[in-house]
Amino acid sequence: MTGSLPVTTRCDRTPAWEALQAHFAAAGKGFDLRQAFSADASGSTKGAQRFANFSQPAPYVFADLSKNLIDERTESLLQTLAQQCGLEAHRDAMFAGEKINTTEQRAVMHFLLRQPALQAGDPPQPWHDALAEVHTTLSAMLAYAEQVRADESITDVVNIGIGGSDLGPQMAVLALAEFSTPGKRFHFVSNVDGHELAGILSQLDAEKTLFLVASKTFTTTETMTNALSAKRWFEAQLGAAAAPKIARHFAALTSNVAGAQAFGITTTFGFWDWVGGRYSLMSVIGLPLAISIGAAGFKEFLAGAHAMDQHFRSAPASRNLPIRLGLLDVWYRNFHGFSSRSVAPYHSALQRLPAYLQQLEMESNGKRVDRSGAALPFDTAPVLWGEPGTNGQHAYFQMLHQGTEVVPVEFVAVKKAAHNLPSHHEKLLANVLAQAQALMLGQADAGGHRDFPGNRPSTFLLLDELTPASLGALVALQEHRVFVSGAIWGINSFDQWGVELGKVLAKDVEARLASGEVSGLDASTAGLLQKLRA
Ligand code: F6P
Repeated sequence: MTGSLPVTTRCDRTPAWEALQAHFAAAGKGFDLRQAFSADASGSTKGAQRFANFSQPAPYVFADLSKNLIDERTESLLQTLAQQCGLEAHRDAMFAGEKINTTEQRAVMHFLLRQPALQAGDPPQPWHDALAEVHTTLSAMLAYAEQVRADESITDVVNIGIGGSDLGPQMAVLALAEFSTPGKRFHFVSNVDGHELAGILSQLDAEKTLFLVASKTFTTTETMTNALSAKRWFEAQLGAAAAPKIARHFAALTSNVAGAQAFGITTTFGFWDWVGGRYSLMSVIGLPLAISIGAAGFKEFLAGAHAMDQHFRSAPASRNLPIRLGLLDVWYRNFHGFSSRSVAPYHSALQRLPAYLQQLEMESNGKRVDRSGAALPFDTAPVLWGEPGTNGQHAYFQMLHQGTEVVPVEFVAVKKAAHNLPSHHEKLLANVLAQAQALMLGQADAGGHRDFPGNRPSTFLLLDELTPASLGALVALQEHRVFVSGAIWGINSFDQWGVELGKVLAKDVEARLASGEVSGLDASTAGLLQKLRA
């Protein structure tokens, strides 16, 4: 942690950017996937070489990028772009604990949350002390998780948190439900809309409930409002017996332990300012998952992520999956001009993956200025959206196949099912393969309405099984690919100033809703406010 950051160059100021523009005009724009496969007759199957070049294994994930609008020249120019931007130096600065979150003067070390202890003979690391704290906290959290698991009197665990303090744990608890301890139900309350909390409280018995109040800052209005109402409900349910039971029925997961204690929660698990909210799933924010799958399962989850960290740190750039995916994102956003990416997990347990990735991508890279604060002359984060397959096929896939905009799709499929209904899984896998195929091949000359243009790109991520380790690897893969595109764009992927204005205005409007004072408001807000008060 020397404090000096490596010199990086914004993508649009590199020679490679210009070369990519020329390449796009000459070959990228009119690129045809079908031709790319049929022109490659080197193997026994047409396109075998293309598949070999553009697919690769990474820890727990096999990726096929061959159905994307790229050729070898595209990838090699993108790789040159990465070099000229100083991507690897920026990555290494993150792994060295440099304060690459410059607007908040913070290191970005979520990788440390899954870093095993250093062994004798390992090179000294600048984050040595921080790692010791990580392991102490992890042990305490896992011991607590085991204690809750063993406690049959606790039947319901309610996580109260929002954004990174909700989406990650919720996504992962659902994804790994197969590994969950029996006898416990998990609930997630995030919205300040009281319908959510009220609906969940109505199902609970206070004596059998554990509330986890998850908030990095312990100041977020939604979470504080929900936590206060949950505490009042608990006190109302148990009357005089409530006070001594708060320590057993409420725990806080936060980097603001003092704030949690001031709120009246004494059971606390802490983390650090160098863990961004949307990168905090493997900190104590993962406690619901640890309770669900147990200490051993949680350690496997961390190990899967660590394996992907190692891949990102050390695999050569040309076979480095987060780098290849991040560069592909840049190619699509800045050269093809595609404004969104759809993620389609073909596994119902991954139902919250798109929502989780939405925050990861859009809160990290939804920025319009570079690291020095200068306005960017090019686009950044795409809109990320999606639903599990096959449901999406019967909803919005129509647009993917025949709409006017091209939307790259990222399929996530899992080879082995965890259920005993083999015919279902065969159909599911057939569908995911067929959708990728149909997007690419299209169907020409079938006449107007039945014409599928094809040449629509997709990436295919394949897991052998959905396990704690493979989910951990998938999460780390996505974290790092977001890092890569953010680094190329020259933005700070680790702050989120864009959420502040709405928070400030909400406070003002809340006071006006109470008082009826509309002076100085725009006519629309004033008119609506008066309607709400009438
Ligand atoms: O307002 C956005 C945000 O700060 C996210 O970045 C974060 O994940 C979420 O709110 C919740 O914040 P906290 O964990 O501090 O309650």
